[in-house]
Amino acid sequence: MSPKPRILMCPPDFYGIEYEINAWMSRARPAESAVAREQWEGLRRTLETAGATISLVEPRPGLPDLVFTANAAIIYRDLAVLAHFRHRERQGEQPCFEAWLAGHGFRVERVPDDVYFEGAGDALFCGDTLFAGYRMRSDARGHQRIGELLGCRVIPLELVDPYYYHLDTCFCPLQRDTAIYFPGAFDDYGRQVLRELVPTLIEVEEAEARRFACNAVVVGKTVVTNTGCTKLHQQLSERGFTPRETPLDEFVKAGGSAKCLTLRLDGEEAAAWKVRV
Ligand code: ARG
Repeated sequence: MSPKPRILMCPPDFYGIEYEINAWMSRARPAESAVAREQWEGLRRTLETAGATISLVEPRPGLPDLVFTANAAIIYRDLAVLAHFRHRERQGEQPCFEAWLAGHGFRVERVPDDVYFEGAGDALFCGDTLFAGYRMRSDARGHQRIGELLGCRVIPLELVDPYYYHLDTCFCPLQRDTAIYFPGAFDDYGRQVLRELVPTLIEVEEAEARRFACNAVVVGKTVVTNTGCTKLHQQLSERGFTPRETPLDEFVKAGGSAKCLTLRLDGEEAAAWKVRV
């Protein structure tokens, strides 16, 4: 029997829209703390019901985006390659994530100082390949370094639409040969590479991509998204997955949703290395 999936989250005690570093964020549209708390708890419960064990990193005042643990690092077995955030506003999160990971048995590695890298938000395994989003946040050069550290093939994908500034906002591997994607977030080359390398690609339409349909958390066969992703959920059901929705609008205000609020600590379902002995 495989061990329980492990996920890192951060309670939204100090969450808010305090600066604007992506196309979604506007200080004129603040988050409502009580609603954000309820929605975050709802996600946590949904993931626990799906079978995940949740670990928590302690929230910190002055770090409103610390809730988005997907950006902390990329995890490969006991190796965590730590984020180096592009925006100064988020760089204070790095020591928090570093301390948590080092204190919980991970070997923490860094990318060189002159490259930016935003963790699992921009680097996702599908089978043996690490798909890596670049341009808006992470640098393509950093991904090459990560490929060397991990000893795996890295496929860089340029992100061309500012609303889909992290790869996990427009691409979500479900299992080794299957992924969800929103074609409009990529250039022709990116779309072609995805079609060539991922045998089953489930396409999301723009209205649902805007609801963060691609920002899904995968726990076994359960796929958890924000509300308003009905067509995707139907496609998932037809393919034998169990879609679940939970409202996350307060986090959409910051440009994040289900997946952004989680970091899988034991390897994503789609990572081939996870199942190999
Ligand atoms: N406000 C955060 C930022 O702009 C949201 C991060 C969302 N995370 C993600 N993995 N897509 O950095």
